[in-house]
Amino acid sequence: MQSFANKVAVVTGGGTGMGRALTLALSKAGAEVAICDVSETNMQETQSLAESAGGARVTTCVCDVSSESQMNAFQAHVANHHGDTVHLLFNNAGIGGGGGFVAGPRDDWERTFGVCWFGVYFGCRAFVPMMLGADEAHIINTSSVNGFWASIGPNTPHTAYAAAKFAVKGFSEALITDLRINAPHIHVSVVMPGHIGTSIAINSRKVLGHSDALEMSEDEVKELRERLMHQQGDAAAHVMNLSDDQLREMVHQQGLQFRDQAPTTAEQAAEIILQGVRDNQWRILVGEDAHQLDARVRANPWDVYEHDFRALTSITEAN
Ligand SMILES: NC(=O)c1ccc[n+]([C@@H]2O[C@H](COP(=O)([O-])OP(=O)(O)OC[C@H]3O[C@@H](n4cnc5c(N)ncnc54)[C@H](O)[C@@H]3O)[C@@H](O)[C@H]2O)c1
Repeated sequence: MQSFANKVAVVTGGGTGMGRALTLALSKAGAEVAICDVSETNMQETQSLAESAGGARVTTCVCDVSSESQMNAFQAHVANHHGDTVHLLFNNAGIGGGGGFVAGPRDDWERTFGVCWFGVYFGCRAFVPMMLGADEAHIINTSSVNGFWASIGPNTPHTAYAAAKFAVKGFSEALITDLRINAPHIHVSVVMPGHIGTSIAINSRKVLGHSDALEMSEDEVKELRERLMHQQGDAAAHVMNLSDDQLREMVHQQGLQFRDQAPTTAEQAAEIILQGVRDNQWRILVGEDAHQLDARVRANPWDVYEHDFRALTSITEAN
């Protein structure tokens, strides 16, 4: 797809981060954009930013992508406001969390997997039928570097997110053949970002139903401390000596550092993703760190879960 002008685009998780940046870039390029998110306030901000930039229309719909009935209500919203044809589908919404399968809370695990995998699956179920009648169309599913490397480092379990992102990658790659046979005008890309400067760490706590880091209850701090103490390495020894307030502050700072000290901004990421769509790349790596990690994993496939496999620091603390 060479031009986005006069196209209809659907973006999940359009309230902040890469979803917002994609929405603004698409709207500027002349595509009408329908966004969904769990945060109405953030979506309204995205919408007014698009309006002030003089871009094409952006509409909003509150929808939790892990619920098929809410996704179907979003689909009805898109049909009502933008007509029956969708050209671009960005299954972008995602959260981190649910790291521990053995010792972590099952609710967090299933919530993270639900948003990151079922959000993509239900998005395709709802909107691919609206893409069948388009002259050209493109599905863009956001995975992660954790879709090819199931780790954020040797001391931190990361099971739900990695499982979901591997699923997104496998599904998207398998769709290439399915679409080629059954709907050759629809293309598909899997997006694998490295560390991108967004508020995902802060937002994910909200979607998982946890308090803001600085407002964690004593029970939440106790649970966090116990979890960190079970993990090996330097972090555990450090955590033992922190007061409750220092632990709250540590988590708060980690969220801010993740957002503010990334090698790639959300806007740069959106630009790379949209160029990948124009170039019809089925695999879109985002950021130099993602490229480097991809090369390292391919070069050393048997070593990637060893303690001394050191990827870029920003990735080991991210995603
Ligand atoms: N930031 C990174 O470093 C990074 C790296 C690799 C992959 N990713 C992936 O990129 C995508 C975008 O993340 P981001 O970094 O822009 O984060 P972000 O938190 O800024 O944006 C995600 C948006 O999705 C929304 N959302 C969360 N749960 C939702 C739900 N159940 N239903 C609808 N909307 C929901 C959030 O409210 C938020 O607006 C995610 O899939 C994430 O996993 C991010």
